[in-house]
Amino acid sequence: MSVDRHICEDAEAAAEACAQFILALLKETLATRDYATLALSGGSTPKLLFKSLVDAKFKWDGVHLFWVDERAVPPDNPRSNYKLASDLLIGPAGIPRQQVHRIRAELHPTAAVEVYVEEIRRFFKLQQRELPKFDVIQRGMGADAHTASLFPSEPLITDRKNIAAALNVAKLDQWRITLLPGTLLAAHNTAVLVAGEDKAAAVRAVFEESFDPKKYPAQLGMRDGANVTWFLDQGAAKLLQG
Ligand code: 6PG
Repeated sequence: MSVDRHICEDAEAAAEACAQFILALLKETLATRDYATLALSGGSTPKLLFKSLVDAKFKWDGVHLFWVDERAVPPDNPRSNYKLASDLLIGPAGIPRQQVHRIRAELHPTAAVEVYVEEIRRFFKLQQRELPKFDVIQRGMGADAHTASLFPSEPLITDRKNIAAALNVAKLDQWRITLLPGTLLAAHNTAVLVAGEDKAAAVRAVFEESFDPKKYPAQLGMRDGANVTWFLDQGAAKLLQG
């Protein structure tokens, strides 16, 4: 288990490095079995990542896409993480719909979680209380050090046994559906892509403050035995001492 960090010239370079890292892991997995699983995050940073993934002209046969989290909005809503991926990755890369396992966020949040968890259980052929091991999880981080839809002080940050949950993010007044820490930590590999000076304080805290995921959710995986690789641009890394 390891935590690695790559500091790149700018956001485009960080996205490109993250894309190459993810594609190498998918290729490695597809050399051993006929499918691979990749869970994507949303927000704005992934726009650059998706462009790099499309430009790589990768053969997506067998790669199954899932989501780390989703806003509780229909799939055609501009805030939808699925819409972002559909517009910038799935469509341009020609990823077949049967390989896309979106969160049905048009449903009531608790129903959306139930449907999503059932789809994950079925795909991963999980036993009761077993967690899915995604081959690759791509995460981002907010300026408040949130990751997925796990925001500071979220009680579910201590949940290590459930796959996903619906939660109301008070500060945004938004319902979200998110994978929970147990699932995030169970991943074979995690790539965290963070860019922009507005994230610098949170990046410094995540790497240099004491381990406290309830305060800094993006620390999940940093000290609890996961393989986490960070891709930062100079702006996001500017306050790092080490
Ligand atoms: C979301 C994401 C979230 C994201 C961070 C960073 O649904 O918003 O999954 O966890 O990774 O908020 O977002 P930006 O890339 O927009 O800064």
